[in-house]
Amino acid sequence: MPHAAGLFISFEGIDGAGKSTHIEAVAQAFESQGRSVTRTREPGGTPLAETLRQLVLNEPMDALTESLLVFAARRDHIQGVIAPALAQGRVVLCDRFTDATFAYQGAGRGFDLGVLQTLEQWVQSRSDKSQALLQPQLTIWFDLPPHVAAARLSGARVPDKFESQPLAFFEAVAGGYATRCAQDPQRFARINADQSPEAVREHVMAALRAKGFLRGAPGA
Ligand code: TMP
Repeated sequence: MPHAAGLFISFEGIDGAGKSTHIEAVAQAFESQGRSVTRTREPGGTPLAETLRQLVLNEPMDALTESLLVFAARRDHIQGVIAPALAQGRVVLCDRFTDATFAYQGAGRGFDLGVLQTLEQWVQSRSDKSQALLQPQLTIWFDLPPHVAAARLSGARVPDKFESQPLAFFEAVAGGYATRCAQDPQRFARINADQSPEAVREHVMAALRAKGFLRGAPGA
């Protein structure tokens, strides 16, 4: 029996937007419909990419170095995990992908978007050059005002290099996500994350049904 086509979904939002708890609910929803799910994250997802993650999150470096490292991690992750899982017909749920680079390094740190676009082309090109870049089929964007995210994060854990940035940084990052969403609205589902976890979860599931990725009436 031919297997289902692979499905690549990414989850995005500023730190504190609450995406991680919802990723697990999405994984369970797909598994309950018989799909095999790969849960993964960026930067990370392979031993090499996890090593690069530690450096990116903890070591001071300039924005170009940071961008090169996150794209190097992404290349290894695509080659080692994402592409093979999609080829096997699995659902790949990825906690952050390239939109985070445009939002954090591009909008947040003010790094050259043209360079990021070039890196995106290099890293996400497929071995069959005739096809479009590897991109998620759906990006669920948890949109939350930065001051609300900051209040949620305060005291939660020891902040990493990004989490300890000032509010203005997250205002810029949020603007970066809005720009990416406006550039590719078909790919994005914007979720108002300033609601109860139950309401957010229901909107996430509704977005997956509306795309036909989960069974059930779109508005159910
Ligand atoms: P996480 O805490 O959601 O796992 O994300 C790790 C941090 O790395 C988060 O603060 C966002 C940041 N990040 C970037 O700056 N650029 C990227 O390309 C990615 C994927 C994450």
